Amino acid sequence: MTKNILKITAILGFAAISLSSCSKQNPPLVYFPDMYFPVAYDPLAKAEDAYSKHENEIPAFVKQNGATGLGPVNGTVAQNKEGVADEAANTAMTMDQYNAGYDASKLVTASPLDPANQQKDLERGKDLYNKTCAACHGTGGDGQGSIVASGAYSGVPNYKDRQITVGSVHYVLTNGRNAMGSFAGQLKPGDRWRVAMYVMNEFKGGINPAPAAPATATATTPDPATAAPAPADAAAASVTTSPKK
Ligand code: HEC
Repeated sequence: MTKNILKITAILGFAAISLSSCSKQNPPLVYFPDMYFPVAYDPLAKAEDAYSKHENEIPAFVKQNGATGLGPVNGTVAQNKEGVADEAANTAMTMDQYNAGYDASKLVTASPLDPANQQKDLERGKDLYNKTCAACHGTGGDGQGSIVASGAYSGVPNYKDRQITVGSVHYVLTNGRNAMGSFAGQLKPGDRWRVAMYVMNEFKGGINPAPAAPATATATTPDPATAAPAPADAAAASVTTSPKK
């Protein structure tokens, strides 16, 4: 027992002596402090040299107002080949903003893509539709896709019962609607237009028909061309889910 107490005292004493050598007068040397304590620069903020006591500017960045992020060089070619803006900029919308955007999108009856490529765009739209949408909406657009037929999912409308335009289909693909989520993560901006063109062309009798009636979120009338019953009314009147966050 006394042996143990002696041992413990000896260990504690040794530790106290060795730690006391780390005094402030004799700080440990650190070579290359940037490696041990890396400084994360904010690309657009002023970069400062954390370890120098001089005027704290890093000479290489002085020209850019101290920022480490540089602008693109002259003549840089933009990567947005199709020139179609990505409207799914992940902005949170209020319900009113969502509905206003939806109403406005109904008035858009032409896609911004080059009409010269229409045939190709429709082919690609069909391919993407069959891969991305048909499981729910069906290859015939009747809302009887395989997961609906299997009973696993329900509430998918027949396009004939919805008053839609190429602009509104694109809007719904971008921002989602009720039970249908946004497809902005799966389809690029140009492809969302291609799928919208295909849906209109294949199931609504053409890419560019104008909306049948003034579009509002609360009063949707069935497409008069199809004399179908109007299950769309109830669904369209209750916009419940919030738009994409
Ligand atoms: C998981 C199943 C599912 C998938 C996949 C899906 N949808 Fe939908 N879609 C729905 C449901 C459910 C609704 C009804 C939403 C509502 O209540 O208005 C709907 C509604 C719509 C509408 C009508 C919107 C309106 O303005 O009334 C369009 C157009 C549409 N979808 C297009 C598409 C396209 C194009 C794709 C493929 C990119 C797609 N959907 C993929 C389930 C799906």
